[in-house]
Amino acid sequence: MGLGLRGQGSVDVTMASPAATCVLAWALALLCVGTQGADPAPCVFPFTYKGKVYKECTTEDSERPWCATTANYDQDKAYKFCSEKAYGGNSGGEPCFFPFAYGGHTYHACTTEQSHGAQPWCSTTENYDTDGRWSYCPDTILGGNSEKPCMFPFSYKGRQYTACTMDNGQRPWCATTSNYEADHTWRYCGMAAAGGNLDSSPCVFPFVYKDKTYHSCTAVNDQMGRPWCATTPNYDKDHLWRFCFSKVYGGNSSGQRCMFPFIYETELFHSCTNAGSKMGHFWCATTQNYNQDKLWSYCPDINYDKPCVFPFIYKKFKFHTCTNLAEDSGKFWCSTTDNYDQDHKWSYCPA
Ligand SMILES: *[C@@H]1O[C@H](CO)[C@@H](O)[C@H](O)[C@H]1NC(C)=O
Repeated sequence: MGLGLRGQGSVDVTMASPAATCVLAWALALLCVGTQGADPAPCVFPFTYKGKVYKECTTEDSERPWCATTANYDQDKAYKFCSEKAYGGNSGGEPCFFPFAYGGHTYHACTTEQSHGAQPWCSTTENYDTDGRWSYCPDTILGGNSEKPCMFPFSYKGRQYTACTMDNGQRPWCATTSNYEADHTWRYCGMAAAGGNLDSSPCVFPFVYKDKTYHSCTAVNDQMGRPWCATTPNYDKDHLWRFCFSKVYGGNSSGQRCMFPFIYETELFHSCTNAGSKMGHFWCATTQNYNQDKLWSYCPDINYDKPCVFPFIYKKFKFHTCTNLAEDSGKFWCSTTDNYDQDHKWSYCPA
């Protein structure tokens, strides 16, 4: 704990706050359990404080969120301040990457499964099985009453939500069934520090970030250079984002791969399509006959180099070459179908 004695000044010692109690105790007799050293014991949820049960970090009697590090604060007086960021592990506290693959399953949230003790952990890359890189999860993302992934869209107070919402709270949350009113199951969506919102809502292209328009995933402002996207058209307003996936995701066939060609309505599809999607999201069927099986996945967010199709239509004009119109980076791009206006599929052009 890096608190010097001067730290006392900022703590209201007259209140029976665990912080105050602990700082005092620590200063006087180093009696505080689990608060010294580089690696304090993890939070224990639920814990009891003044007879009340807490399932997540709390700011009760303290300015900073804290948790007990045993199940009973009243008895053991052991606590720590909650970490808002991923920490420890073998990746130097890199943020979580959701969802990640582990043991052949897809995890949309931190897990206590195996390996890393009782404390929730996450993979810091898309695939834990191949990369083996992990962090302990931020203490503050815990909460909610469901460990299932967000379900989009979900209804809440007569409105449909296609992304996490701050309505009725200070932190983004989502329902984990399609009807919050009926089922009351929910969870917090992660914060930026936790590696994007903990859900698989699709990227929305184009999106606005710091007043610039992005037509594809971007690594701008990610320390690790990892591509990310906004999940609403305006990041500046909504602050909703996640890392981009190079594989199919979401949908309702647990991330099964696309099955090409597939039949949808009266057409045969040889690649992902946004037919029938109001938001223009690209999807594919995961069986040969969508009409019959109705099973699907979202297509990968990351554009692979696909050949240009010339001429293509963009804003009702016909293009016979690559263009850098509407591209903030100035890079040249082309449509990968003959109609960009309709399909929104594109790729950067070779230099
Ligand atoms: C999958 O999604 C489609 C389209 O929303 C729906 O019609 C179908 O019933 C869903 N199937 C399952 C098994 O959830």
